[in-house]
Amino acid sequence: MVELVPMNRDAFDGFLAWTVRDFADEQVRAGTWDAAEAAERSKAEIQGLLPQGLETPDHFFRSIVHGAPREPVGTLWYALRKVGPKSELFIYWIGIDERFRRRGFATEAFTALDEEARRAGASTISLHVFGHNRSARALYEKLGFDTTHLMMTRNVPAAAKP
Ligand SMILES: CC(C)(COP(=O)(O)OP(=O)(O)OC[C@H]1O[C@@H](n2cnc3c(N)ncnc32)[C@H](O)[C@@H]1OP(=O)(O)O)[C@@H](O)C(=O)NCCC(=O)NCCS
Repeated sequence: MVELVPMNRDAFDGFLAWTVRDFADEQVRAGTWDAAEAAERSKAEIQGLLPQGLETPDHFFRSIVHGAPREPVGTLWYALRKVGPKSELFIYWIGIDERFRRRGFATEAFTALDEEARRAGASTISLHVFGHNRSARALYEKLGFDTTHLMMTRNVPAAAKP
């Protein structure tokens, strides 16, 4: 069973670099950002969310660790926020290092996260996922997440030749 351990400064710096890169790549892949501006936009957006970095209030950063001695296998970033009368835990990021994937570690991390959510008084866990991220979508569906918003897009077809 994995454990969720608060990140130290070194782990946070590595995590931030990975997240900024991944978020930029995903936005380009989704067609929402241009490749030339993606790195800067991603950095600015994440810095905007985390003005105090690791110490930003209501944001929590966890290393997902496994085994004895503990080995880091992934990272998790979430925030606690009020949505109307309820408290919600919103996941900004979960990632399992490539070499540890498909071993059930993300699933176990969600079990551990449920416990953190209960302790914090959160009644729901929410997240955003890009439509093209089929592995993450499969994971979330298996874990019982429902779709609450759905954005769709298609290319405008070329005009028919006269
Ligand atoms: C998505 C991610 C976190 C899954 O982590 P994981 O530890 O490999 O997931 P698990 O082993 O717990 O998988 C549980 C289930 O999710 C689904 N799943 C996970 N990866 C999948 C893949 N590549 N293809 C299809 N289904 C997948 C399967 O149903 C799987 O169950 P199974 O192995 O019994 O078939 C991991 O692939 C990852 O870090 N991706 C890059 C970062 C990312 O996209 N994060 C999510 C966006 S915020």
